[in-house]
Order: sequence, then C-alpha cells, then structure tokens
Amino acid sequence: MRTLIAGIGALGGTIATRAVSAGVPVWLATRTAESARALRSSGLRVSGIGGAAVASGIQVAALEEYRGESFDLVVLATKAHDALKSAPFLSSLLSPGGTLLCIQNGGVSQILSARLGSSVVLGGVSNLGATMVEPGIYEQRNAGHLLIGELASGLSDRAANVARTLSPAIETRVTANMRGAVWAKLLLNCSVTTLGAIAARTMRQYIASSTGKKVFRRTYDEALSVALASGTRLERMIVEPIPGEDYGAWIEQVIAGYGDAKPSMLQDFEKGRRTEIDFINGYVAQVGEEIGVPVPMNAAVTELVHRIEQGQLQPAPARLDELSLRLSS
Ligand SMILES: NC(=O)c1ccc[n+]([C@@H]2O[C@H](COP(=O)([O-])OP(=O)(O)OC[C@H]3O[C@@H](n4cnc5c(N)ncnc54)[C@H](OP(=O)(O)O)[C@@H]3O)[C@@H](O)[C@H]2O)c1
Repeated sequence: MRTLIAGIGALGGTIATRAVSAGVPVWLATRTAESARALRSSGLRVSGIGGAAVASGIQVAALEEYRGESFDLVVLATKAHDALKSAPFLSSLLSPGGTLLCIQNGGVSQILSARLGSSVVLGGVSNLGATMVEPGIYEQRNAGHLLIGELASGLSDRAANVARTLSPAIETRVTANMRGAVWAKLLLNCSVTTLGAIAARTMRQYIASSTGKKVFRRTYDEALSVALASGTRLERMIVEPIPGEDYGAWIEQVIAGYGDAKPSMLQDFEKGRRTEIDFINGYVAQVGEEIGVPVPMNAAVTELVHRIEQGQLQPAPARLDELSLRLSS
C-alpha cells in the first residue's frame, strides 16, 4: 500500500519514525519545503514508551510537491483546521479506491466524510499520546494504539488492509463502531480537556470545587445527549461513556483514568497556538443545534475558548465560576 503521511508533528512524526524504522515504505509531507529539507538532513527520532526508534534516509517533501503522484493511503496527521484545508488536495492524490485516514480528535473525520464521501474517508482515533520536542524529535507518552474503522459502521476489507499496513509501525485495531469511538473520545475531550484548559488545572484539581463538578456535569451531559440523539451507540474507552446510577463512582473512574494529565489545549493557550475547539465543544454545539438538542454550555465554552485564544481572557479557575453563573441566570 503506497502510503503518504501528511503532517510530521507530534503524532505524525511518531508514526512516521516507527514506520520507517520498521521497514514500512512511507512518504512524508510537511507544510513547507524548508521543513522537509530540515527533516531530510536531521532524520527522525522517537523516544519514550514503545522504545527508541530512528529513521534516516526518509522520503520527505512539502505537500505541494506531491501533486500528480498517487497513493493508496494518506494518513492525515495535521491539526483539525489544517486537515480541513488540505483534505481536498490530499484526496486528489488518492489512487482509485484509495483511503484518507483521519486521526484528528473531535468531529474532523465526520465532517470530511460528509464532504468527500464515506468511501474515501476512514475514521481514526488515537489513544496514543505523543509530543514533539523539536522538529524531527518526538516522544511517545503512552502505550496507546490507533483505532480505525468505517464511519458508516461495520467492518471492511480496506480497514483491515490499512491496519495490516500500519501495524508494524504502531498497534492499529479495527472497530465496527468507529462513530461510537469518535464520540466517546469527544465526550472526554469536551469536558475533561477543555474545562481543564479553561481553568488552567487538571481535572482532579478543578473537579474538587462544587462549580467544577457542576460545569463538568452539564458539559458532559449535553454532549452525551447530542451523541445519543444523533443515534450514536457509544463505545467504552477507559470508562463507560454513560454514567451509571452511582455518578460519584463513575466520576472517580474518570479522574483515575484522565484526571492528572495537563490538558493539551492548555499547552495550546500557553504557546499562543490556535486550539481545535471548533471541532470539540464547537462541534457538539453545532450538531446539537442541527438536531434540536439544547447545548448552551458547550456553546458558551466554545465562545470562551475563542476569547482566551484572542487574549481577551486568561485561563483560570474563575472562568468556570463565570460559566456556571452565566448558565444559571
Ligand atoms: N499528539 C497527540 O498525542 C495526539 C493524540 C490524539 C490525537 N491527536 C490529534 O492528532 C492531530 C495532530 O496532533 P499533533 O499533536 O501531532 O499536532 P502537531 O504537533 O501540531 O502536528 C501537526 C503537523 O502538521 C503540519 N501541517 C500543518 N499543515 C500541513 C500541511 N498542509 N501539509 C503538511 N503538514 C502540515 C504542521 O506543520 P507546521 O508546524 O509547519 O504547521 C505540524 O508539523 C490533532 O488533531 C490532534 O487532536 C494528537
């Protein structure tokens, strides 16, 4: 399977390094020719969980330079906004029957599937965490895997083939319920991660206050209602996506699984980077509005994150108090 990895950042770089070092033939695409030149001379290195790996002699070029070439598989590993921008060009590089695998958090794969067709886009969720120390140097942070599957649900030969292609590099599992997995992760991203970023705290820290508990519950419950009302059968992640009768015990499990990580969106705030909020809480709010499920908390959270991105507000615990007050008035 002739494979292109587009976006050689934290996740794409980690997958690319492990692919090349495992002997999987891959071509790599960066945004600019300058980045490609730098990576060609430095090579790629991964450390951390999963062991060290090195890739030299890599085939890397700016995305634009692949015009006219043909790939059976494109792994789209840019951030969400760039994924939407580059997907039409990337789909033009696909051979007949070729696959665009989207591994962004949030609603990206579903949006692109609606735009480009479900026979082109394959959904993906990364349980693998990685950071980029500097271009060409990556750190794998956990022993997670890539979960892939048809967004229209069911199993397919192409998903199995893609898993077989990527597995020597990175553990890749196939699910028959991709949409359920995408939404299960989205529920956690829009509550655990976004609220932690807004409060500049881990979930364990912000959920200790009664306001933190209230805002979490409202954000999660709204997103859960949207997922269920849109006909999604949710997949289990580390925790069950639907809180059982004992809500306190369920929250404890969420905290044990996810409560101590520094929210990735907080790192975006600190570095002045654009966040993926429009594809996380913003996506929940958009789908909720489309199908008539009330989503005031997710809409307010989205707006608040935009204000933080624009420098009008700073992330702090007080932001959760303001959200709570605003939504109770
Ligand atoms: N990192 C993780 O642990 C993790 C885990 C789960 C899911 N995800 C998801 O995976 C996606 C990627 O995350 P990430 O952390 O790897 O982001 P990242 O480190 O910012 O990497 C994205 C890379 O894409 C490149 N890029 C942007 N536009 C491009 C284009 N048109 N052509 C080629 N390359 C382009 C960027 O280059 P420039 O720097 O030049 O812009 C950057 O190197 C996100 O949607 C995220 O939600 C990440």
